[in-house]
Amino acid sequence: MYYITASIVHWRSVHTRVALLLSHQHVKDMKIDARRARLLEFESEVRSPFGTPVYVFYEDDIRSNYRRLRSALDEQYPDSTIHFAVKANYNPGILSVLRDEGCKGEVYAHGELTAALAAGFDPVDLLVTGMNRQPADLERALEIGVERFLVDNDAELERLIATASETGKRPRVLIRGNPAMDVPTHPEVATATRETKFGLDIGSGRALAVARRAVGAREVDLAGIQLHIGSQIRGIEPYAQAARRMCSFATDVRDELGVEIDVLDLGGGFPVPYDEPVPDAAAIIRRIAETVHAATDEADLARPHLVLEPGRRLVGNAGTLLAAVGVVKETPHTTFAVLDAGTNAVSSYWPYPVYALSEEVPAESYHVAGPLCYSGDVIAEDVSLPPLDRGAVVAIDRIGAYSLGSASHTNAQPKPPVVLRRSDGSIDVVRHPETIDDVLVRATVPDDLA
Ligand SMILES: Cc1ncc(COP(=O)(O)O)c(C=O)c1O
Repeated sequence: MYYITASIVHWRSVHTRVALLLSHQHVKDMKIDARRARLLEFESEVRSPFGTPVYVFYEDDIRSNYRRLRSALDEQYPDSTIHFAVKANYNPGILSVLRDEGCKGEVYAHGELTAALAAGFDPVDLLVTGMNRQPADLERALEIGVERFLVDNDAELERLIATASETGKRPRVLIRGNPAMDVPTHPEVATATRETKFGLDIGSGRALAVARRAVGAREVDLAGIQLHIGSQIRGIEPYAQAARRMCSFATDVRDELGVEIDVLDLGGGFPVPYDEPVPDAAAIIRRIAETVHAATDEADLARPHLVLEPGRRLVGNAGTLLAAVGVVKETPHTTFAVLDAGTNAVSSYWPYPVYALSEEVPAESYHVAGPLCYSGDVIAEDVSLPPLDRGAVVAIDRIGAYSLGSASHTNAQPKPPVVLRRSDGSIDVVRHPETIDDVLVRATVPDDLA
């Protein structure tokens, strides 16, 4: 977290470059005034009984995010499934809203599989991904009825083959390809570049070699191919490029191995508008659909079942962190509003909208900082806010993706509670506040030093 300021600065340079590509297909979906008004309506309820800091999630937002993507797919590519990338938010209470919508899940290894089961997902609706799953985890997943596994490398394919042979199950396998693409996003979340650890390189034939092994093994069934180009992708064209590369890979699989793939999984990456407009998800889906239609027609391939694995887009705008100002501190250079939550409570890199829960007009400029013991603990710089006093509540908005998972105990700080505002207006606690005892519970002192 020490690098958050530098990361945001870096992000801004990527961002400026990408802003040049904006077109009519991009939407500005900020509506911050409406979001503030909604919070003001029930602020006291969500702050009670825990006070601040508190994460607030909205059931309505999660449902409408899912429905928008689903209806775009229904129009453009009906033979398709949405698997929520559970890594974006593995709180079972939040996951259960998506499960209730009919969304399926992409779970990374044993931990997220367990979270999805706690949320009531049926194992057959889960795609298990990972890059170093142990035989015991694969065995457990097979035993409980998971049928589909993503394969990122040859070692894991061998483990899966061995485990399948022991359990007598025949899992369906998707090969994760890497087309070596540069994409417009933060470099740490670009996942199909030449340098990344993820996937099997397509250009050098490694992906085809692993697909060949899967086709040749009677213990598994090659179902399809997958890629995930990265997160918070700021353009539409990278999706078209990725779809073309994968259709070309599917053609190689057919020509070289004599197998037509059933499933084309293009991963996630759909962006959320933090401080700038981003491509409309329906426009991305339209572009994917037209590209897959054209590429499969050209290669005379059967139309595959399309899978998407969005995470951020389904929950990013559905969560807000509320924190209270504890100290207003003037230095010769700036004025800091110091909150009771810091940068360790939100996923790094992104320029989250920050505003005060107040009807007053913004009139002062603040650096909004956390209470943590490092200089980089600044959530946003030069934010125009109404005059703040101790107790004023500030919203750090659209933090719904990845923040709960990356929140840390820096300076032995307990993690804030999570509440879900239900569609009927009631509030459910979906994660209770931690205490300092929770932070220390697994730590021990050697006997001779106790
Ligand atoms: C394999 C895979 N699928 C889907 C996602 C979800 O990405 P996003 O939240 O940007 O949609 C990720 C994110 O890291 C991923 O690694």
